[in-house]
Amino acid sequence: MLSVSGLCASYGAIHAVRDLTFEVGKGRMVAILGANGAGKSTTLRSIAGLHRPVRGSIKLGGEEISALPLHHVVRRGLAMVPEGRMIVAPLTVEENLKLSSYAGRGVEQDLLARVYDLCPRLKERRTQLAGLMSGGEQQMLAIGRALLTEPSMLVLDEPSMGLAPSIIDLVFQAIVTLHKQGQSILLVEQNAEIALSVCDYAYLMKRGSIVGQGTVAELRADAGVLDAYFA
Ligand SMILES: Nc1ncnc2c1ncn2[C@@H]1O[C@H](COP(=O)(O)OP(=O)(O)O)[C@@H](O)[C@H]1O
Ligand SMILES: [Mg+2]
Repeated sequence: MLSVSGLCASYGAIHAVRDLTFEVGKGRMVAILGANGAGKSTTLRSIAGLHRPVRGSIKLGGEEISALPLHHVVRRGLAMVPEGRMIVAPLTVEENLKLSSYAGRGVEQDLLARVYDLCPRLKERRTQLAGLMSGGEQQMLAIGRALLTEPSMLVLDEPSMGLAPSIIDLVFQAIVTLHKQGQSILLVEQNAEIALSVCDYAYLMKRGSIVGQGTVAELRADAGVLDAYFA
């Protein structure tokens, strides 16, 4: 369970995120939807320990994590797949996956097998340089790398970004498979249509604030609410 309350984050005088409150229950897939610049990545970077929030509480499994750096947050069970994937181009697929093993802990073969089951293409290409792979394959590699830390909470920053529609569908099929396996997921997207087709619950974010929320059925039933926010 991830529980964020009253989160504020700034860059100098720019208030990128204001008083954000939301939660992702165990086994749920929750989306935060918003246009470019809404503050989605700042929110995720704050949760992951990459950006120090001005105030607010971030709890993972009941424990406060808002003051912890990234590597401690990962150890507590949260893994983020950053915007733009951030794979290491000159390393092979398998070397990228093994980067996830933190000090004193090797990559377990059964965890690698889980990633390769989810995306057999990564297994086929495990000795290939990551930078030579397609955008969709790189996105799957970034997700696989996050899974190797065995996260109780998987956080995805715009997995559809820069991908062709047919490839987006493939990546989201994998995300749905993870969710069905019980993985808790926080998904941030500009692509509302694809996110709403897979999530349980969504928050709408505009200019740093949450301006609407509900189950997918509630959001769709509320005439024009989605159109109003994404027009
Ligand atoms: N590193 C940064 N330095 C200064 N301002 C930033 C930085 N990153 C984001 N911002 C600003 O914070 C706001 C929210 O950005 P961001 O969280 O990246 O939005 P989103 O991910 O929803 O596109 C924007 O106004 C953006 O210009
Ligand atoms: Mg972003």
